[in-house]
Amino acid sequence: MQVLSTVHEMRAACRAVRKSGQSLGLVPTMGALHAGHIALVRAARKECDVVATSIFVNPTQFGPNEDFSKYPRTFEKDCALLEAEGVALLFAPQSEEMYPKGASTFVEVEGVGDRLDGRSRPGHFRGVATVVAKLFHIVRPDKAFFGQKDAAQVAVLRSMVRDLNFPLDLVVCPTVREPDGLALSSRNRYLSAEERRRALVLSRALNVIAATYGAGQKDVTRLLEAGRNVLATEPDVRIDYLEIVNADTLLPLTEAVPGALVAVAAYLGVTRLIDNTLL
Ligand code: PAJ
Repeated sequence: MQVLSTVHEMRAACRAVRKSGQSLGLVPTMGALHAGHIALVRAARKECDVVATSIFVNPTQFGPNEDFSKYPRTFEKDCALLEAEGVALLFAPQSEEMYPKGASTFVEVEGVGDRLDGRSRPGHFRGVATVVAKLFHIVRPDKAFFGQKDAAQVAVLRSMVRDLNFPLDLVVCPTVREPDGLALSSRNRYLSAEERRRALVLSRALNVIAATYGAGQKDVTRLLEAGRNVLATEPDVRIDYLEIVNADTLLPLTEAVPGALVAVAAYLGVTRLIDNTLL
């Protein structure tokens, strides 16, 4: 595996892949890799000849009071995992390489980017869209792989790819969970054993909503009520949002339809977790 830290080197390595006629897949990450990330790498390996991964804890997507400085960084371990999965190129730039002094251009996905996590974390999706647009320009992948775990991020990036005519396919992979239902997240390592146990209420609430919908209930108010009743069993879990929305626009629905997105965000202590399911 080649590890590249400058835009110039990464561009050259990706250009060489394209020139050889091989297809190139990109898996962008912020590191602290877990089985959810590895599932994206495996999907990319299946669909593309060569896989590039990026590890970059992107400062522009963190708010001033968020966890940028304490975000887990496990670079050596991540490298070993990616190497074992057959990743050919790892792009791991420093902040100054991605945002040199004077960088002042950002990608803003209006509307979609202001909903769900975009509403709770102002500026978050501006940072995500900007860094992903930069990665797309540097790598120029045929396909880029993202997790359904971050459903709002997927909606934002789909809009960006469409609106800015990026010549690539965005591939979305299912959420990888622990056997007990907890969605894997780099932030799970912040949880105490007690918080880890309480966090299960998120996937339980989503499952109850999906089951209630499956049993014929289509009224969103009723479905959300069923979900909130489950969340209320863990009063120490502070709900940020629980919504049923159109998966592309992230606008709230009044009547649940197939493909609707049920999304939840909540705080366990200071740790913010998200999860979702599609009806
Ligand atoms: P990060 O949180 O490291 O996630 C990288 C990719 O892994 C994202 O596409 C995310 O949706 C996916 N992922 C995370 N947990 C997952 C799980 N349990 N199952 C399946 N996929 C999962 O998302 C980001 O980084 C950043 O915002 C990034 C896109 C890299 C831009 O900085």
